[in-house]
Amino acid sequence: MQVIESPQEMQNWSRAQSRAGFRIGLVPTMGFLHEGHLSLVRKARELCDAVVVSIFVNPIQFGEGEDYDRYPRDLSRDLGLLQKEGVDAVFTPTVKSMYPEKEQTTVEPVAGMENKMCGRNRPGHFRGVTTVVSKLFNICLPDVAFFGQKDAQQALIIEKMVRDLNFPVRIVKGEIIREPDGLAMSSRNVYLSPEDREKATVLYRSLLMARDLINRGEREPSRVREAMLEMIKQVNGAQVDYVEIYNAFDLSELEEIRGQVLLALAVRFGTTRLIDNLLVEV
Ligand code: PAF
Repeated sequence: MQVIESPQEMQNWSRAQSRAGFRIGLVPTMGFLHEGHLSLVRKARELCDAVVVSIFVNPIQFGEGEDYDRYPRDLSRDLGLLQKEGVDAVFTPTVKSMYPEKEQTTVEPVAGMENKMCGRNRPGHFRGVTTVVSKLFNICLPDVAFFGQKDAQQALIIEKMVRDLNFPVRIVKGEIIREPDGLAMSSRNVYLSPEDREKATVLYRSLLMARDLINRGEREPSRVREAMLEMIKQVNGAQVDYVEIYNAFDLSELEEIRGQVLLALAVRFGTTRLIDNLLVEV
């Protein structure tokens, strides 16, 4: 497994793979890997000849006062895990090599998908994501790129960007990987105290309850939303950032629950913000 720091060397490596006729799969990550990431790596291994994982905590997708400095990092552990998965190359650029100039061209996501859910309280977050993902595509030259469904809004925004800007990359989404009690795996789960870790199961429980309501015939988005809010409110210390229900393909508003629907939420426990979602087909 090659560990490559320089964007130029990474691009040369990928060009050589393409010239050899290999199909390149890219799994972009911010490191501190868990089973969710590894399931994407395994999917990439299945579908591609050469697998690249990028590990880069991207400063421009964090807002002021967010957790950029304390975001968990453990490169040697990550490299050990990726070696075991048979990854071919790991791209670990420095901030200086990704953003060498003070003024930086950025990629702007469409407003209608960006300014809701995680975008509402994290202005500029998705611009940071689309910008770094564009750079990673241009550096790693993947044929296929893999993103987790846990970041549903991110995956939809990236799919739209790929369509709109004609990136020659196929996007594959991987299902949410959960702990045995239902909590979605996330690098940020390590921030939780044992009490909050227990309370955090309310995210998935509220999603399952909402799905149940829908399956029993509820079609009014506001009533499903209210029921979720009510359930989360019962948990001491849980602060809702958002609970939202949208069309799962383009995040448009729904007058009634019909078709493929995305139930999504973000909840804070102290300074830790967790997100989760569920797709429901009606
Ligand atoms: O989902 C993530 O870990 C990040 O947002 C990504 C896609 C690697 C871009 O920094």
